[in-house]
Amino acid sequence: MPIYANYAATTPALSQAVVKELREYAGGAQLNAGRNFEGLEAGAIALRARRVIGKLFGLSDPLRVIFSGGATQSLNMAIHGLVRPGDHVLAMSVEHNATARPLDYLRKDGVIELDWIQCDPEGSLDPEKIRGLIRKNTRLLVMTHASNVLGTILPVRECCRIAREYGLLTILDMAQTAGVLPFTVDDYFDIVAFAGHKGLRGLAGIGGFVLGKSAAERMRPWISGGTGSGSHSLDMPEFLPDRFEPGTQNTIGILSLAASVEEILRTGVESIRKRERVITARFISGLRTIKNIRVCGTLDPDRSVSVVSVVIPGRDAAEVSRLLFERRGIITRSGLHCSPLAHRTAGTFPGGTVRFSFGNGTREDEIDAILEALDGL
Ligand SMILES: Cc1ncc(COP(=O)(O)O)c(C=O)c1O
Repeated sequence: MPIYANYAATTPALSQAVVKELREYAGGAQLNAGRNFEGLEAGAIALRARRVIGKLFGLSDPLRVIFSGGATQSLNMAIHGLVRPGDHVLAMSVEHNATARPLDYLRKDGVIELDWIQCDPEGSLDPEKIRGLIRKNTRLLVMTHASNVLGTILPVRECCRIAREYGLLTILDMAQTAGVLPFTVDDYFDIVAFAGHKGLRGLAGIGGFVLGKSAAERMRPWISGGTGSGSHSLDMPEFLPDRFEPGTQNTIGILSLAASVEEILRTGVESIRKRERVITARFISGLRTIKNIRVCGTLDPDRSVSVVSVVIPGRDAAEVSRLLFERRGIITRSGLHCSPLAHRTAGTFPGGTVRFSFGNGTREDEIDAILEALDGL
């Protein structure tokens, strides 16, 4: 049996209960929310998903949950919707390309000024550092909640609290933390983006973002089109969620999230976190006993999600990854993980790392088998 250690990329299997709901849905009529009478049911599915996701993030208003094609699309919508020409933007030196590339395109086009806030090699920072980088025209702070390379959790609430003191807008990328780290979206956050297919255990191709209380007024719809509402006007509707949900929705994707997040809530994110912490701690303490292996990121499982990158000096990361798969069926991801910035921060650019990441299906004996395989390389 293969051992899957690539949860940071995607959760490989939907639960049986989720699959059952999706089968039933797919066997029925195709529905389009807001477009015809039957579409009412699609709208109801979306509302069900908004409610449970709202609950997951402690929201009082589920209409602030907006669906999109994923975390990348959400982050692009947020960045392009919030910045204006001449703005100065701050972002972390461990960002994923989902934020780094759109920000850098805007910089290259002369639309914004951009500074990366240098994190330490473990992938965290002293939030106070932000103060010294804020200028008169600084408008936005973009930050990932946990690096997808290093696993290190950033002090996001503290950083965004400081950003708020200076009137900045804030975007939080929860691709690696939604569903695995308890988190309440409070007033420090304008946009909180999530992916559906990672910790939230839904289908790929669905995701979204939570709009903070004041962000809706400031954010322009970066993608516009038909919403089935306010069709007399060439402007997008003012009300949520329609303002940011143009086009036909991915209803089966949304249904997968409704069903999977209901399960997550039944288990409780606290207990998911506890379990993942145990797994990560076991892996890190095992790695420390293996000679000639460098563990990147923090070694403190209280400060990281279940993502651990390693370097074996003198060995090529892709080669190590291939050997682990060929000899023991261990599925990892090697290279730069769509985050060259994080690798530069950790000192692992351009060679990259072998990344192990764990999730709801990971067992202790699998961790031990991975450690044994690494020891025997
Ligand atoms: C930190 C981070 N941000 C954004 C993304 C993009 O997510 P998606 O590919 O689902 O849009 C990822 C995916 O790995 C990620 O790890």
